[in-house]
Amino acid sequence: MYERMRSNHRNRCFKMCNPAIAYNRTSMKRKISALALLPLVIWSCYYNKEDELYGANGACNTDNVTYATTVTGLLTAYGCLGCHTGPSPEGNINLQGHANVKAVAGSGRLYGAISHAPGYHPMPHGGTKMNQCDITRIKAWIDAGAPNN
Ligand code: HEC
Repeated sequence: MYERMRSNHRNRCFKMCNPAIAYNRTSMKRKISALALLPLVIWSCYYNKEDELYGANGACNTDNVTYATTVTGLLTAYGCLGCHTGPSPEGNINLQGHANVKAVAGSGRLYGAISHAPGYHPMPHGGTKMNQCDITRIKAWIDAGAPNN
């Protein structure tokens, strides 16, 4: 009995006092605290971006919306170009190049699809709806006559 307690004790002490194991624990703790900071970092980036998009008064900023920067940037960022380019684009909708995007915009299908309007296939296909300000910015470009700016 005494012998067993002693060996148990030694075993426990080995786990607690072994420097290799103790080191592992602190590095684990460090990893965990780094992970805990991650959402904060992501949140602060997102917050900055929203600030820029919505401006000081909280309204969506549709100033300086252009085809080259805004529209192409959003079609790329939301992965639209991954499915809608090349010789046989998905749904026969080509979103590469101003003339193609203007044609899809002019038919009402671009806004219908991204705003998830009834009667249109919701885009991005199988993905999360675009954020409202981004939809509004594309709409501002369409309403301006889909210029090649
Ligand atoms: C994973 C591939 C994929 C992605 C990503 C994707 N689409 Fe589509 N898209 C399709 C398919 C497939 C169709 C054909 C309709 C259907 O099956 O839903 C389609 C159809 C469309 C249509 C025609 C809709 C209609 O009802 O007439 C438009 C416009 C369109 N997509 C725009 C976009 C835009 C803008 C994005 C990005 C926000 C996007 N798509 C992202 C696959 C995709």
